[in-house]
Amino acid sequence: MIGIRDLSKEFDHQSLFKGLNLNIVKGSVVAIIGPSGSGKSTLLRCMNGLEVFSRGSVSVNGLKLYGVLERDYNRGQESIIIKNIRRKVGMVFQQFHLFPHMSVLHNITVAPIHVLGVQRAEAETDAISLLMKVHLEEKAKKYPGQLSGGEQQRVAIARALVMKPEAMLFDEPTSSLDPEMIAEVLQVIKELVSEGMTTVIATHEIAFARDVSTHVVFLDKGEIVEQGSPQAIFFNPQNDRTKAFLSRFMK
Ligand SMILES: Nc1ncnc2c1ncn2[C@@H]1O[C@H](COP(=O)(O)OP(=O)(O)OP(=O)(O)O)[C@@H](O)[C@H]1O
Ligand SMILES: [Mg+2]
Repeated sequence: MIGIRDLSKEFDHQSLFKGLNLNIVKGSVVAIIGPSGSGKSTLLRCMNGLEVFSRGSVSVNGLKLYGVLERDYNRGQESIIIKNIRRKVGMVFQQFHLFPHMSVLHNITVAPIHVLGVQRAEAETDAISLLMKVHLEEKAKKYPGQLSGGEQQRVAIARALVMKPEAMLFDEPTSSLDPEMIAEVLQVIKELVSEGMTTVIATHEIAFARDVSTHVVFLDKGEIVEQGSPQAIFFNPQNDRTKAFLSRFMK
């Protein structure tokens, strides 16, 4: 579903990714773990056309983006490809990024109406059923400022789902939440995963990653140090860097 080949990316002339490869299979749940600054967010952003990269390619369901040094392959087509990739892949951020001046319902319906051309009545019906799915049907008329962080994040998930994505990317969706709200957001993600949604999640919630993922990627300094089943990575890590990272969570 998502294929990353030989991805290279620099920030300010400093290499972050030096030829990274990763395959994300349809229906899988991939947890990306690793220390702060290891490149988790940047990797997710590359999958969604939010970040340019110098070399390599990222392909999402056959839509392929190339590094800027290799753009001759799809010259002039990047913006169309990016637009199509974003329709197929929903993204949820650590900070919810809801529109503060729009009601919950309006936040969820604005893109289907204006981007996909869906009729308002249909978009609202979809929005209400998604609000039920994230257990917030009674909040449709509220504004983001009137909701808790956990509720705002669940609205952000509904807003991504209304575009009927084929995959969802979550970038530390619970790390700006108070502890009592983390469970409700993880529960919603868990339900989504159980319906077979292809999911990539950068997370510090090691127990959650262990419980819901089908594949774990340990990233350090822009490099995939180790990847495998949750069983292998969490219970039998091979690399010393993986072991050192995980030991912080196993106290
Ligand atoms: N816009 C930017 N300009 C310059 N450097 C950047 C930029 N964005 C990220 N970086 C650098 O790239 C590296 C990877 O950052 P990234 O945000 O992807 O890490 P992360 O694994 O998501 O970290 P965290 O767990 O703290 O969210 C870091 O060294 C960071 O300083
Ligand atoms: Mg990050």
